[in-house]
Amino acid sequence: MATTTSLRILTAEDVVTQLRAVRARQPVRFSAFYSSQLGGIVTDPALMVILFDDHMVHRGHGIFDTAAIVNGKIYDLGAHLDRFIRSADYSKLRLPASREQMHEVIVRTTAASGSRDGSIRYWISSGPGSLELTPAAGAEPGFFVMIFPGLAYPERWYTDGMKVITTTYPIKPALYAITKSTNYLPNVLMQMEAKEAGCDNGVFIDADGHVGESSNMNVAFVTADGIFRHPRFDQILSGCTSLRLLELAPALQQRGLITGVDVSDLTVAEARQSREMLLLGSSIKVAPVVMWDGQTIGDGKPGPVSKALLELLEQDMRVARDRLVDVPY
Ligand SMILES: Cc1ncc(COP(=O)(O)O)c(C=O)c1O
Repeated sequence: MATTTSLRILTAEDVVTQLRAVRARQPVRFSAFYSSQLGGIVTDPALMVILFDDHMVHRGHGIFDTAAIVNGKIYDLGAHLDRFIRSADYSKLRLPASREQMHEVIVRTTAASGSRDGSIRYWISSGPGSLELTPAAGAEPGFFVMIFPGLAYPERWYTDGMKVITTTYPIKPALYAITKSTNYLPNVLMQMEAKEAGCDNGVFIDADGHVGESSNMNVAFVTADGIFRHPRFDQILSGCTSLRLLELAPALQQRGLITGVDVSDLTVAEARQSREMLLLGSSIKVAPVVMWDGQTIGDGKPGPVSKALLELLEQDMRVARDRLVDVPY
């Protein structure tokens, strides 16, 4: 922070110089950013900024979603946009543009980034204009798209398996859990708590003792009798990865790896008896959990179903023509 003796009124040029200096100290690998407030795409990370009085910044009145760029195509953008629009609706956010226009902006920002593998995160904000609790009168909703390399997870999560804890932080009430809003405080605190405990992530449990979800991932199990089980989606985020894996998983039944697929409430006691525990999401894809609250899951090694589901998902990301969007690089 500037010392109080150096405080002065800045020119626009000073601000840009300062933003560049911040980026030089804290380099990021954001390759392109669209902002409806800027009216276009920027590739200089110093210019990837948002108005401070946007309701999304100071009251958390905004929503987001993230889709993956795989081999120069965008995977499952339709499912992510459906959830994005649902989240906007639950949050009483006006859409800044039509679904088709937002789709087009996402594709064109991806093309401008040149990135052939990575992530696209996009937001709708309620807009700037005041510091009130309700949106400012006449506030223009904002639309932002960021292209970045994606979250990086350690290779050992896949080779050796992950360790998780049950978080002490309460799960979000259903409405806030099914809405992908910019309020991720419980998720952030859970992940910090897990790391402080020497673990990789946490799991939310609901008031009835049912398994919820993880920080930015869903949780699923292979029960002792071989069923691929996933919690119901009415109190947790409906993960696009989970929904797709539930469609792909029956192929594993034909291969004798599972005995069925089921989406239902799962008590912690039942879940702890599982052969396999898995974390699922767009960034992690499919990763095995081998220890939960210091107790071993199955034989304490990554299991065959987690490996097979990861292969099915990676194949789907390459070949599912109806789920791949071309990018005009
Ligand atoms: C809280 C939460 N649960 C689950 C998921 C998994 O969703 P997806 O598979 O669409 O990435 C995410 C990630 O978006 C999340 O933030």
